[in-house]
Amino acid sequence: TSGLPDVRERTLIAIKPDGVQRRLVGQIIQRFEQRGFKLVGLKMLQASQDVLSEHYCNLRTKPFYGSLLRYMTSGPLVVMVWEGHNVVQTSRTMVGNTNPAEAQAGTVRGDFSIHVSRNVVHASDSVEGAKKEIQLWFQTKDLLDWDSWDQTSND
Ligand code: TYD
Repeated sequence: TSGLPDVRERTLIAIKPDGVQRRLVGQIIQRFEQRGFKLVGLKMLQASQDVLSEHYCNLRTKPFYGSLLRYMTSGPLVVMVWEGHNVVQTSRTMVGNTNPAEAQAGTVRGDFSIHVSRNVVHASDSVEGAKKEIQLWFQTKDLLDWDSWDQTSND
């Protein structure tokens, strides 16, 4: 390896229906831009049961699974891919603890939520998990390659 930071690491961030309904989209995007990450994909959509059951496949046996899927289909999501050095881990820190009562002030959940069942935002929890989630929610052609964009824009 080169010893250089992996600036191409990517993660999936989704603003959940409560975040969209409460007009938090701009503030959440601003935090990631301000931190220094690059937005490489963005869409607003109503999630299907199929995609959500795949996305949350590890939670299928949990008692809150049914209400989680109802919540996640209760309105549109804003789903994004962000890129940059250590973006998976840093995003988890920026998003805060799953349970807002445990989330530090200054994190998205610590600043904008009070209950685990309405915790505003999703962030992939590992590099491997992020790869799977990005494949599930996006087609490769819909993700920006900043390097080739910089090149063509200089032509
Ligand atoms: P999980 O993957 O454990 O957390 P995270 O979103 O931080 O990666 O759980 C997924 C979502 O399930 C969580 O964001 C909110 C919901 N959830 C509940 O509604 N109740 C619960 O007790 C837990 C643990 C999660």
